[in-house]
Amino acid sequence: MAKKYFFIAMAVIIMAIFGLTGCVNVADSEKKDIIVVGFSQVGSESSWRVANSESMKKALCEEEGFELIFDDAKQKQENQYKAIRNFIQQQVDYIVLAPITENGWDDVLKEAKQAGIPVIIVDRQVDVSDDSLYINWVGSDFLQEGKMATEWLEGELEERGRENDEINILHVRGTNGATAQIFRTKGLQDAVDEHINWNIVSVLDGEYTEALAYEVTKEYLEKIQDTGETIDVIYSENDNMTFGVLKALDEAGIEYGGEDGIIIISFDAVRSSLERCLVGDINLCVECNPLHGPRVANLIRSIEAGNTPSKRSYVSDTYFSYDSITHEVIDERAY
Ligand code: AHR
Repeated sequence: MAKKYFFIAMAVIIMAIFGLTGCVNVADSEKKDIIVVGFSQVGSESSWRVANSESMKKALCEEEGFELIFDDAKQKQENQYKAIRNFIQQQVDYIVLAPITENGWDDVLKEAKQAGIPVIIVDRQVDVSDDSLYINWVGSDFLQEGKMATEWLEGELEERGRENDEINILHVRGTNGATAQIFRTKGLQDAVDEHINWNIVSVLDGEYTEALAYEVTKEYLEKIQDTGETIDVIYSENDNMTFGVLKALDEAGIEYGGEDGIIIISFDAVRSSLERCLVGDINLCVECNPLHGPRVANLIRSIEAGNTPSKRSYVSDTYFSYDSITHEVIDERAY
């Protein structure tokens, strides 16, 4: 009797072991099909960035065949180094990097290459000695954005009959050394070089955040208060900084936007900025599309299928001005 129970118990144990082992194998093979992606994001400094993070999370989700390890670097390059080294340790299949600035990536990207992990750069670019340190970059043409803004300004001043007036421009700049800053600034500088009557009266650093842009603009307006200095144009390198600038102008009682106020030029064209364009607070919103998630997912699928993507994929952007924007544009906005 005891022997019988012993054999039954053994059989149950053996079945359980085989069953369990089988399960592990199934789970393993399912896991093998999942592509693990480590994404080092700059931070959450702007509405654009938040929309960008959401787009990445949505496109690189489990239902789409990915596992996303998301790291928010809080606007610090050291945090991005740490995140990438963690991804290498975890042996992810791909690393996606949205770099805060262009410089300083050689060492950590070499480490990724040595570990055999392909790297995709998104949004801003990296300035590295060896282009083979990354597979592909996808993002906007920031110089083209700057050109769109200044060409529009040239036309607007002509329409106002002010093409020969002295034009004082206040430049509110994004994070120094970020591709978006370098090329939007270049777009402005090139146009100023071409127009003898355009002057940049001051450059304020707003780090792409509303809070800092508000502080530096407020300080600047207080400084020029009794000097007789005037501002004709504010060229603000993203929407959130523009919101900070407008708050400071409101508090100082300075008129802006529309046909008579300071001409406000902003970049990104997120929904809340377009709404302020519609009511005339912002004269020009230059678009910068943040929806890179599906682009990155498709890139990875294409690499997995054995294709070699082109080194750079530019996204095309447009602009919206206060005198032509419609409700429909805002209703259709996905971010
Ligand atoms: O690199 C893109 C820029 O970064 C966007 O214009 C800005 O809003 C973001 O923070």
